[in-house]
Amino acid sequence: TSNQMWGGRFAAGPDAIMEAINASIGFDKRLAAQDIAGSRAHAAMLAAQGIISDSDAEVIREGLLTVLSEIEGGTFEFSTALEDIHMNVEARLKQIVGEPAGRLHTARSRNDQVATDFKLWVRDQFDAFESGLLALIRALVTQAETGADWVMPGFTHLQTAQPVTWGHHMLAYVEMFARDLSRVRDGRKRMNECPLGAAALAGTGFAIDRHMTAETLGFDRPAANSLDAVSDRDFALEFLGTASICAMHLSRFAEELVIWSSAQFRFVALSDRFSTGSSIMPQKKNPDAAELIRAKIGRIFGANVALMTVMKGLPLAYSKDMQEDKEQVFDAADNLMLALAAMEGMVRDMQGNRDALEAAASAGFSTATDLADWLVRETGLPFREAHHVTGSLVAMAEKQGCDLPDLSLQDMRSVSGAITEGIYDVLGVHNSVASRLSYGGTAPERVREQVARWKEILG
Ligand code: ARG
Repeated sequence: TSNQMWGGRFAAGPDAIMEAINASIGFDKRLAAQDIAGSRAHAAMLAAQGIISDSDAEVIREGLLTVLSEIEGGTFEFSTALEDIHMNVEARLKQIVGEPAGRLHTARSRNDQVATDFKLWVRDQFDAFESGLLALIRALVTQAETGADWVMPGFTHLQTAQPVTWGHHMLAYVEMFARDLSRVRDGRKRMNECPLGAAALAGTGFAIDRHMTAETLGFDRPAANSLDAVSDRDFALEFLGTASICAMHLSRFAEELVIWSSAQFRFVALSDRFSTGSSIMPQKKNPDAAELIRAKIGRIFGANVALMTVMKGLPLAYSKDMQEDKEQVFDAADNLMLALAAMEGMVRDMQGNRDALEAAASAGFSTATDLADWLVRETGLPFREAHHVTGSLVAMAEKQGCDLPDLSLQDMRSVSGAITEGIYDVLGVHNSVASRLSYGGTAPERVREQVARWKEILG
C-alpha cells in the first residue's frame, strides 16, 4: 500500500531497499521533543490567525502532549514505513485525536519543519557546549591558582626551551577554551532565526504569523528568506566547525597529559577515577581518558567534513541529501560533550608533581636565554654576540657534564671576560620565571593577575 501521508498519486508502496535508504526514523527520533514543540507552536499560531479553529488547535496541542509522553515513556511504536519523526508523530496524533490532526500540516512542509526541529536541537547543544566549556575553564583556573609559581620546562619542538610556570601553562588552555566559548556564543546568536513558515520553499498563501511562532520557540526572529530558511544548514556547520576547533584544543591537551603522566616525565598524577589498569602488567596506570579524548576528536572532524561535503553541491532549496545532516551532528555532539566532561574531570582531579616539574625545569640548560639576556643588560654585548658566548658556555657545561649554574666563574670568564659573579643570580629557574614580567609573561606575579581576571570574568 502507498504511504498514508503522501501516497495519493502512488499505486504501490516502496521497495524494501527504497524504504531502507529513505527512512530516517532510526535516528531522527531524537528530534521528537523539538518536533512536538514546533507543531504545538504552529497549531497555536494557525488558530490565532483564524486558519484552524480554536477547538481543533486545542485538541491537536493536547494530543501532541500525549504523543510526547508515549515517546518519553518508551511505549511509542516507531514505524519505518512512516519514514521520519515528523510523519510518525502526525500519524499517531491522527490515531489519538482523529480528523483535526489532518489540519496541523496546513501552511507547513516537512522542509521548514525539519529545519526548525534540527535548529532547536542544535541550539540546545550550543548551550550544553557552553556549560561544558565553562566547567572546564573553571577547573583550569583552579589548577593555575594552585600552581601559579610552580616552575616547569616550557618546550618548543618538545625540547626544553625556557622555564615557565604551571599556572601559565594552565592559563594558556584557558585562553584557547575561552576563544571556543566566544565562538559558541557567537554561533548561538547567529543561528537563532526561525525557519518555520517558510513552508516547502516559497512561503505560503495562508495568512500565517511567523513572528508568533518564532517567539514561542525562543527564536529572535523569523528567517527572512524562505528559500534560505529551508536549505540552510550553516548552524549545524558552525556547530561542527566550532566543535572541531575545540576538539583540536582538547586533543592537544590530552596529548600533553599522556606525555606528562608517563614514568619518563612524571609531571602529573592522574586520579584513579580517570585512569585504568592493565590486565597483564600490574604496575600500570594508563591515561585512557586522555587517549580516548585524543581519538574521539576524529569523529568530530569527520562530521564537519562529511556535512560540508553533503552541502557543497546542493542547488536551492531542499534536497533529500540534507537528511544526512543529523547523524553526523548527533554523533559529534555526543562525543564532544563526553570529551569536555572527561577533560574537566581529569583536570579537576590531577595532581601536578611540583618536584618533578622543577627538576625538569632546570634540565636541558633552560636558563641559557637568561644568561644571554644578562650579558646584553650588564655588559652591553649585542644580543647576537651574547647568544654566541652563551652557546659556548652551554657546550662547556655539556662537556663537563654539569648544568649552567655549576660552571665556575673562572671557566665562564675564559669564554667572556665581561662575566661577573652577578651572572649566578639569573641562572636559577625561579629567578628566570620571576623576571618574565612582560605583559602576558610567565612570572608568577603575572599569572596571579590573570587568575584574578578570570575569576572575575567567571563570577
Ligand atoms: N526526514 C527529512 C529530513 O531529515 C525531512 C524532510 C523531508 N522533506 C521532504 N520533502 N522529503 O530532511
